[in-house]
Amino acid sequence: MDDIEFEPVPSPAQGVGPVYRPEGEKPTATVSKSLSYENVHVLPQTPQLIALLTMIRDKGTGRADFIFYSNRIIRLLVEEGLNHLPVVEHSVTTPVGRAYLGVKFEGKICGVSIMRAGEAMEQGLRDCCRSVRIGKILIQRDEETCKPKLFYDKLPADIANRWVLLLDPMFATGGSATLAVEVLKARGVPEDHILFLNLIASPSGVADFAERFPKLRVVTAFIDQGLDEKKYIIPGLGDFGDRYYTL
Ligand code: PRP
Ligand code: URA
Repeated sequence: MDDIEFEPVPSPAQGVGPVYRPEGEKPTATVSKSLSYENVHVLPQTPQLIALLTMIRDKGTGRADFIFYSNRIIRLLVEEGLNHLPVVEHSVTTPVGRAYLGVKFEGKICGVSIMRAGEAMEQGLRDCCRSVRIGKILIQRDEETCKPKLFYDKLPADIANRWVLLLDPMFATGGSATLAVEVLKARGVPEDHILFLNLIASPSGVADFAERFPKLRVVTAFIDQGLDEKKYIIPGLGDFGDRYYTL
C-alpha cells in the first residue's frame, strides 16, 4: 500500500465541558484531529466521549473497566453509524388517533467483524439491531512486518444485497481494514454499501483508506496523532485485543 506519510504531530487541544461553562473555565483536553474527507465522520468530541476515551487509553485501567468503557464508545459508534443508512418515509397512527409522518430503515444490513478485536463490537451492534446477521473475517497483522494476513472468512450468503457495518476498533496502517474491504468487494458488496466503524484511527491509515475507497464511509471516535516505529497508534491505547480479551 502507498503510505501517505504523516509525521506524528500533537493532536489539537481545546476546552472540553458543558456549554454553560465559559470557555476559560473549561479543562483543556486533546481532541481528535480533523481530516477533510467527505467519507470520514468523526464523532462529536463531547465531554462524555473524551472522558470515556481517557479511561480506555489509561494503561492503569484494568480489563473489567476497559471492557465497560469500550462498550460505551462502541454503542455511540453504532448509533452514529445507523444514521448513515438510508430511510424511507413511514407514516403511523398514534394511540390518540393522529397521524405521525416519520421514517423507517430501508434495506437489509449485516455486521462483519475483523477478528479478534472487531468481535468486541458485535454486542453493541446487536443491542441496536436485534438478531442482526454477523459475518467474520479473520485477519491478523504479522508482528514483524505489520502486514495483514487473511486466514478465514464466513459471511452471509446474500451479503451482496446488504448494507455492511464493518467492525474493527483499531485502524493503524489501515492494512487489515483494506484487506477486509477487498474480501467484501470480491463477494459483490458495493463499496458504497460498506460502513466502517472504528474507535481510534491513525491519520495516515484513514487518509489512505478514504482515498482508496472514496464511496465507503468511515465512522470513527478519534483520529490520533500518528504511528510509532512498530506501527502502533500513538498515543493510542496499546493492543485493543489483548486489553479486551486476555490481559
Ligand atoms: C489489530 C486491530 C486491527 C489491526 C490494525 O488486530 O484490531 O485489526 O491490528 O492494524 P492495521 O491497521 O495496521 O492493519 P491484530 O492483527 O493485532 O489482531 P487482534 O485483533 O487479534 O488483536
Ligand atoms: N492494533 C492495536 O490493537 N493497536 C494498535 O495501536 C495497532 C494495531
